[in-house]
Amino acid sequence: MNTVLVGAQWGDEGKGKIIDVLTDKSDYIVRYQGGSNAGHTVIAEGKKRVLRLVPSGILHDGKTCVIGNGVVMNPLDLIEEIETLRSTGIEAKGRLWISTRTQMVMLYHRALDKAEEAARPEGKKIGTTGRGIGPAYAAKVNRSGLRCGDMLAENFLDKVREQVEETNIRLKELGAKDSDLAIPGLVVENGQIDAAATVATYAAAKERLSPYIRDTVPLLHSAKASGKSILLEGAQGTMLDIDFGTYPFVTSSNPTAGGACIGSGLSPRDIDCVVGVVKAYTTRVGEGPFPTELFDADGRTLAERGHEFGAVTGRPRRCGWFDAVVARYAQQINGIDYWALTKLDVMDVFPKIKICVAYEIDGQTTRDMPCSADALARAKPVYEEMDGWMCETSNITRIEDLPPKAKAYVERLVELSGAKLGILSIGPARESTLRIAL
Ligand code: GDP
Ligand code: IMO
Ligand code: MG
Repeated sequence: MNTVLVGAQWGDEGKGKIIDVLTDKSDYIVRYQGGSNAGHTVIAEGKKRVLRLVPSGILHDGKTCVIGNGVVMNPLDLIEEIETLRSTGIEAKGRLWISTRTQMVMLYHRALDKAEEAARPEGKKIGTTGRGIGPAYAAKVNRSGLRCGDMLAENFLDKVREQVEETNIRLKELGAKDSDLAIPGLVVENGQIDAAATVATYAAAKERLSPYIRDTVPLLHSAKASGKSILLEGAQGTMLDIDFGTYPFVTSSNPTAGGACIGSGLSPRDIDCVVGVVKAYTTRVGEGPFPTELFDADGRTLAERGHEFGAVTGRPRRCGWFDAVVARYAQQINGIDYWALTKLDVMDVFPKIKICVAYEIDGQTTRDMPCSADALARAKPVYEEMDGWMCETSNITRIEDLPPKAKAYVERLVELSGAKLGILSIGPARESTLRIAL
């Protein structure tokens, strides 16, 4: 049984938690896109961990984790993450493999990300995480990227030097200032990257990561042939997809389910099930349209109760009501079979709860997602209102024990969004999970 798990909104839906829960029925866990722009939180055995590149299944003994070819992997971030895991008793070596085809995010991609974002005028800024994701994917598509397999070749450090020199030309054009380029591990002077220091950094990284790199296509296909279960972990979310999201306010990869095959080397025929992770409300971090965004006390309540701050960047997340237009669109694009509905407990204190069921755009009512971010920015949500349940749900252990009004809210979300309920999450910890069909 091979399962793809995708975020159905603008990221941070609770994918890390749900991957951790589903890992007990999986043998291999594969990240298939994104990079260390992701922050996936897992709270297990009283410890909180935030994973950025390593699949969230690593916390379970005996499971094999793979960083697939669709990921853009920052070697320095990965080394740090492996060390952090080691310091808390989790050894990745021998259980974590990185595809030889995985593109690398280099320090100079991070520099470009920051300099390009600084150069964008107000209103055109994307609010990127500054992790070098856009420039690394741009280099991949431009066929100038370096892959993990290249790290093993003799001329790797020569290529790094060449790329630093090319990047310096671009940084000069962008008018980059040292203050724009404050990136740990990066040595800059007068807006220019120090090539020798960068080369030395990657010489060390090569030594550290070489044992983890291999061709992961035969690994996954032989796992499949021997009846193992593979869980494919998406990062970001459907509305941040480069093709289907709110372009240009998106990330540079395909978090949607189609990306799972491209980013792992499994074929579409190998996928048995798609799980969509969706919050009981909506959040977004960074710029871009967000029709149900709240700027009032209800929005602040969602942010406070949901601790809506970026898992990595600490940036406050924008909050709003559940948007069923988004969820229904995500169901269609990804072929979601089951929902993992998270953070229902955050809604425990609202006397009335709104659900957006359609948009009104330029006088027309629609349930379809507009293609343009400008049109979405003009969308006025058409709301349905339901009674809140006004009592705690986080201590419930059986779905039958949900307060009737909470049950009605969940049923309505599921009905509007067009897939079955697989998991209901009522707290951040592994235990606070009701498994209904998964
Ligand atoms: P991801 O990027 O999709 O993995 O999500 P993040 O980890 O960035 O953000 C989700 C946040 O919500 C984390 O702080 C989780 O610990 C927390 N969380 C996940 N599920 C629940 C839930 O059901 N209830 C509550 N209250 N918090 C949750
Ligand atoms: P997880 O996997 C939420 C957002 C950024 C920005 C846009 C582009 O934890 O859900 P990028 O650095 O990718 O070029 O930024 O995408 N973004 C995320 N928002 N969760 C994430 O990951 C995100 N990764 C990127 O805030 O708006
Ligand atoms: Mg996150």
